[in-house]
Amino acid sequence: MSQPQVFYDDFDLGPHLSSSYMSGAFANILYGIARFSGARTLVEVGVWKGLTATLLAQAARFNGGHAWGVDVGEFETEARQRVERMGLSEHWTYLTCDSAQAGQHWEHGPINFLMIDAGHGYESVAADIQAWIPHVAPGAYIFFHDYNLTTGVWRAVNEFLEENGDEYTRSMKFCWEHGAMVVRRKAVGE
Ligand SMILES: C[S@@+](CC[C@H](N)C(=O)[O-])C[C@H]1O[C@@H](n2cnc3c(N)ncnc32)[C@H](O)[C@@H]1O
Repeated sequence: MSQPQVFYDDFDLGPHLSSSYMSGAFANILYGIARFSGARTLVEVGVWKGLTATLLAQAARFNGGHAWGVDVGEFETEARQRVERMGLSEHWTYLTCDSAQAGQHWEHGPINFLMIDAGHGYESVAADIQAWIPHVAPGAYIFFHDYNLTTGVWRAVNEFLEENGDEYTRSMKFCWEHGAMVVRRKAVGE
């Protein structure tokens, strides 16, 4: 069965997908949520080689905002070069830091789109949730990558949802590309 495809006029996904593991469907959904939620402050925790970073930087560009990527520095040069090659450097900042520590010291305002994809063990994901959730703006989306890949991600996300179900709702779950759970914080008055 073919995967769903959505096409935008914003840009050609091809360069984002070349030499990457991402399928068009995964990239379209990630980009679509980031872009069409109108997110202006976007954070990715766990950058690796910058594949998804280019999508978030692209969304930041079209939304008139800025994207940040936080990573301990693995493949930092490759990530920076990839974003630069796409002409997106001015819309994206790389923070070399432990993800939970970066969240504790975050000072760039409420976050409208948060992607959590750093350490995948239960303690790491729970620490990232604890550090970053206080910065999530009402109405914002949180994209938990690899939800189906490790029991650590799955357990930490489910616990978070069980404890915060009044404020955060399951928005979308998908199973390819190691799965993802997309959660939305309720908007004010919702
Ligand atoms: C799965 S990769 C991220 C993939 C990227 N989001 C993408 O889809 O292209 C995980 C990354 O998280 C980083 N990482 C792991 N633990 C971390 C931590 N405690 N703080 C910051 N980065 C961390 C690793 O260095 C690695 O680059």
